[in-house]
Amino acid sequence: MRRPPRWAILISGRGSNLQVWLDHAEFVDVGWVVSSKATAPGLLKAKRRGIQTTVLPLLIDWSKFHLELKKRNITHLMLAGFMKLIPTDFVNQWRGRILNIHPSLLPAFPGLHALQRCFAEGAPVGVTLHHVVPEMDAGPIIFQKALQQKTSVPWSWPQVQRRTTLIEHRLMREVVLKWN
Ligand code: GRF
Repeated sequence: MRRPPRWAILISGRGSNLQVWLDHAEFVDVGWVVSSKATAPGLLKAKRRGIQTTVLPLLIDWSKFHLELKKRNITHLMLAGFMKLIPTDFVNQWRGRILNIHPSLLPAFPGLHALQRCFAEGAPVGVTLHHVVPEMDAGPIIFQKALQQKTSVPWSWPQVQRRTTLIEHRLMREVVLKWN
């Protein structure tokens, strides 16, 4: 019988995408929540659900982190707003089992502040869920969804942010329900 995946969710901030995983605990095994920032509000969300959390040091020892993941029987990694560059060796060790969510219609607007840049340029807004490869925001796309603006008045920045977050959460649910 296929062993269901056991996930580590990597965060750096608010953790609203992480929350989707926590809210679907009956479908998914989240074994560890790891943050690059001690102040990330997402850490509290995980702790409240009794999930083990760790804050990574400023200088991450990626080989040690890899061994720690193995020790905890983690099989898959979800980068949910994780704001650290990941070295090639580590990505290759987890290739096919490390996913990222990015607030743009990749390959458009890779990198930091994607949504702001997209909005500023009046380009189509959306979200991409993709496999992680050593090049930033460049891996094979799993799901992608564009924001549908149905009104004639353009959305404000807060509206775009809110709706993008809702789409992110919808894509997170897709992963939770289809990958587990
Ligand atoms: C999301 O916009 C995600 O696409 C990006 O970082 C943000 C994380 O948000 N990579 P949250 O911490 O899950 O609320």
